[in-house]
Amino acid sequence: MTDHFYITTPIYYVNGAPHIGHAYTTIVADALARYHRLKAEEVFFLTGTDEHGLKVQRAAEEKGCTPLELADTNSAEFRRLFEKLELTHDRFIRTTEADHRRTVEWMVKKLLKAGDIYLGEYEGWYSASDEAYYDESEIEDGVAIESGSPVEWVQEKSYFFKLSKYTEPLLKWYADNPTCIAPSARHNEVRSFVESGLRDLSISRTTFDWGIPMPDDPKHVLYVWVDALTNYYTAVGPFTDSHDPSRVKDFWPADVHLIGKDILRFHAVYWPAFLMSAGLPLPKQIFAHGWWLNEGVKMSKSKGNFIDAFDLVEDYELDVLRYYVLREIPLGNDGNFSQARVVERNNAELADNVGNLVNRALTMHGRYLDGEIPATPELSADDDIALRKTALETAKAVDDAISDLEIHRALEQIMALSRETNQYIQTVQPWALHKEGDSERLAETLYCALEAIRFVAVLLSPFVPDASGRILDGLLGDTDGGRDLVSLKTWGGLPVGHTTKKPDVLFDKLEAPPEPAEEAPKAEKPKKEKKAKNEKKEKKKQASQVTFDQVMSVELTVAQILTAEAVEGADRLLKLTADVGEDAPRTVVAGIAKSFSPEELVGLRVAMVTNLKPAKLFGIESQAMILAAKKPDGTMALSRFGEDVPVGTRIS
Ligand code: MSP
Repeated sequence: MTDHFYITTPIYYVNGAPHIGHAYTTIVADALARYHRLKAEEVFFLTGTDEHGLKVQRAAEEKGCTPLELADTNSAEFRRLFEKLELTHDRFIRTTEADHRRTVEWMVKKLLKAGDIYLGEYEGWYSASDEAYYDESEIEDGVAIESGSPVEWVQEKSYFFKLSKYTEPLLKWYADNPTCIAPSARHNEVRSFVESGLRDLSISRTTFDWGIPMPDDPKHVLYVWVDALTNYYTAVGPFTDSHDPSRVKDFWPADVHLIGKDILRFHAVYWPAFLMSAGLPLPKQIFAHGWWLNEGVKMSKSKGNFIDAFDLVEDYELDVLRYYVLREIPLGNDGNFSQARVVERNNAELADNVGNLVNRALTMHGRYLDGEIPATPELSADDDIALRKTALETAKAVDDAISDLEIHRALEQIMALSRETNQYIQTVQPWALHKEGDSERLAETLYCALEAIRFVAVLLSPFVPDASGRILDGLLGDTDGGRDLVSLKTWGGLPVGHTTKKPDVLFDKLEAPPEPAEEAPKAEKPKKEKKAKNEKKEKKKQASQVTFDQVMSVELTVAQILTAEAVEGADRLLKLTADVGEDAPRTVVAGIAKSFSPEELVGLRVAMVTNLKPAKLFGIESQAMILAAKKPDGTMALSRFGEDVPVGTRIS
């Protein structure tokens, strides 16, 4: 019986443009989908866009268009990106599609029928940018501690899902299925969260309307996560337009829901609870990957340093990009996107190791044997036997690594096989055998080298598909077989008598990027020659550094604090007024209440940013920002100036 493999990515919000995080998850899922297809399994790979909810509605209002118009535009951008990335998803789902709506309605009716939904009133914090409800303990200074996103107070009638009822069933599921949430640290994290007790979940809103209406009560729209999570069932479930009854049987439950660590709670707590309530089988695994930093700096909207996904496609060959993101960090860890590391990995591993191996072996094969694959040798030499052993063991080790979702380890093993094959050639010296006229041994050694290359190329093909395909084309032409993982169960799969053809250069060597700090003439960008250097994109990549002009654009001023008082309801905040050398004092809301009493601040001369865009905190408009240092014990220290520095003096 054919095995089935169902893998999903999160569906992406359509409020903005795709960035490296979106590209990353989808590339990882694509690599895994390709790997399982290569094992002759039937695969369903799902990705798409999450289009409802307050966040999207607000983004549309800001843009002056309807939410559907925004969704149409941005969903198309994601689709365009995935085409450029040559991803092999089986469906790109949109939550505004009719079959999804039908599925969500069906799902909510199941929860209603189970007696798990009741009408109540929600009062608490909500973050539109995270589309998440937060407890008081998860909030500090008007933002959610974990994500840093602003929250707002919500009070309205709402349907609730009886999440608390599923506390014990969830704990039992975690205990009975130690790998259902991975990596294991995430399993522990979720378990302790649930152990600390679950509250019922508000699952509808009445203050906006961009969503799927609550069945039989259309004043309410469903909470966007109830809608979004259900997409995983829509795609293989019974309500799709192309309803295929065997699909749900074959593909449900999903083998892997691949997600980022920030959306773990929704997937590992809410989703299994909804499924239990609906009476559907639970996913086999929810795997949370880590976050990419940009040259060491966390990416955020406020810093404007998100690595644009289209820039990545522009700047690097797809194979190189895929290899780098899959090889550089273990799935699950955070990682640092560094141009210098892309270059190092490309040059040392792809070009010098694999590229060089294929080039030298196929050149010799062409030169010494007219490119004709000799008869499969009976191996007797120790070197040949050792190479065969490593090749077969590598195929097995790669399979083990992939079933643990340790893609970086799989790639490490493949690189080791390639290195060993290079070493083999060095040891057996086909050029010397040719010179000596030992044609029998020459044929044996070249066969072994080419067969090991076939192992390398087949194993690499889900991760580095283009170059691997070209290697296999060169080796196998249009002969049958030899390209899938099943063919690596035994050694000796080359088509005897077939003429090989050396592929064109597989991996160009890249130049190291310019040293960050210097203004010195920039080296050519490490990218395809045909692509012009794009200053703007380069700058974006280096957003972690600032230029002199950027520093000077921040207006820093010596300010004297005139008054200070507590802010009601926010125990970390103080409301200050400060003389910054203008006609009237400025109001400043500062998160320093835990470190200073209002009295000790009055009269101090401190540094303030005076050209920051005003922001409202707890209803008070803050018109400047005080600079403070957080000490190791968590308390704050202020930079201070003496009486001799006049108020209003610019700091530079
Ligand atoms: N719409 C929800 C998911 C619903 S799934 C039923 C959502 N969308 S998102 O567009 O905000 O985020 C999608 C994914 O991008 C998340 O898995 C998130 O972890 C990931 N990333 C966002 N920034 C990231 C990095 N800097 N690095 C890696 N992935 C990151 O959440």
